[in-house]
Amino acid sequence: MGDLSNMVIPRHVAIILDGNGRWAKKRGLPRTMGHREGCKTVEKTVEIAARIGIEYLTVYGFSTENWSRSVEEVGALMQLFRYYMVRLLKIAKQNNVRVKMIGDKSRFDQDIIDGIDRLVRETQDNTGLTFVIAVNYGGRDEITRAAARLARDCRDGKIDGESISQEVFASYLDTAGMPDPDLLIRTSGELRLSNYLLWQVAYTEFYITDCLWPDFNQEELEKAIVQYNKRERRFGGVKA
Ligand code: IPE
Ligand code: IPE
Ligand code: MG
Repeated sequence: MGDLSNMVIPRHVAIILDGNGRWAKKRGLPRTMGHREGCKTVEKTVEIAARIGIEYLTVYGFSTENWSRSVEEVGALMQLFRYYMVRLLKIAKQNNVRVKMIGDKSRFDQDIIDGIDRLVRETQDNTGLTFVIAVNYGGRDEITRAAARLARDCRDGKIDGESISQEVFASYLDTAGMPDPDLLIRTSGELRLSNYLLWQVAYTEFYITDCLWPDFNQEELEKAIVQYNKRERRFGGVKA
C-alpha cells in the first residue's frame, strides 16, 4: 500500500463507476465483458476500502436511466447481479462488511429482490465498512419517492408539515442515517453527475479520473485520497 499514513481518510467515498463499455470496445470485446471486469473491480475496491478504513463506500451500479440500454445489455447486467450478489455475500462476511442498497429495487425480478434482501439481512450486524450499492437508483427518483412518503405521513397525521426540516426530509431518503459523501470519484472522464446522489453531494469534493472503471485499482484510489487531502473544504464559510 502507498503511504496514506499522514492522510485524512474520507469517511464516505461515493463512486460513479463508468467506462466498462469503453474498456471493452478498446479491446474489441462485447460491452458485457467490460461489465464483467467492472464487477471484479467492485469486489476488489470493497476489500481495499475496508482495509484503508473508509467507513462508507457507495457505488453506482445501475441507474434509473440505464433501463434504456439494449435488452441484451440490461439482461447481461441482471445476470451479473445474480452472480455477484452471491460472491459479495462471501466477501462481506470475510471482511466484516455491512451491505446496504439504495434505489428502487421493486422493478427487479423477484429472485434479485430476494438476493438483495438476503445480502442486507445477513450482513446487517457487521461492524466494518458499510458498502452501499445504488441499483435502479436515480437522485430525482429517490427525492420524489421521499416526498411522496412524507406527504402520506402528513396526511396520516404521523408528521406535522410545519416540522419538516432538512434533517426530517433527509430521513425519508434511501440514505437515511448515512453521512453525506466526502469524496465523489467518477472514472472515465465524464464531467457530470448522471443523476447520482443529487441531495447528498451538496458539499462533496469531486475527483474525476480518465481511468476506465475496470482498470481502477488501489493506486488510483490512493491518488484520489491524496487529491482530497489537498482540498480546502469551506462549506460556505471562509478560511480559518
Ligand atoms: C458503467 O459503464 C456501468 C454502467 C453504467 C452499468 P458503462 O456501461 O456506462 O461504460 P461506457 O460509459 O459505455 O464506457
Ligand atoms: C452512470 O453512468 C450510471 C452508472 C454508473 C450506473 P452512465 O454511463 O449511465 O452515465 P451517462 O449516460 O454517461 O451520463
Ligand atoms: Mg457510461
